[in-house]
Amino acid sequence: MEITEWTQDLNLGIEIIDSQHRRIVDYINDLTHAIIAENQAEVADVLERLRDYTFDHFAFEEQLMKKAGYELLEAHQAVHRRFEEKVVRMQHELQSGRDPFGIARRVRTALLAWLIQHIRHEDVDYVPLVKKSLKSNESWIESTLTRIFGSSSATS
Ligand SMILES: [Fe+2]
Repeated sequence: MEITEWTQDLNLGIEIIDSQHRRIVDYINDLTHAIIAENQAEVADVLERLRDYTFDHFAFEEQLMKKAGYELLEAHQAVHRRFEEKVVRMQHELQSGRDPFGIARRVRTALLAWLIQHIRHEDVDYVPLVKKSLKSNESWIESTLTRIFGSSSATS
């Protein structure tokens, strides 16, 4: 199991989104460390923080797409909801206590694979429209970040 390095090709060119995606990868690396250390409490704790952050990120991304008038918003939201259900199911599985590190490894692999393919195939599609919309909505971004993440920095 390796630590995942962020690579430039995963950048969408929208800094606020790229920094959130990088934060998710940091959480996945925290999960990797907890698995390697065989620290079950830490695995559960990181997974919970990863889940909360990822769900907030989805909410923020959806607000951006909505603001930009992105026509595939509903389909994109459906992809996010399905992934959220998957994460919750995995979390329940982890709580069942059977083979916690085996489950944690599967969760980690699935999260990483999903994130990368989602950025490359789905997120990439909203980029031109969202970029254009962000240029004229800077104050809106700050208030939306604060509303969803509780802070406008959104990467802590
Ligand atoms: Fe997305």
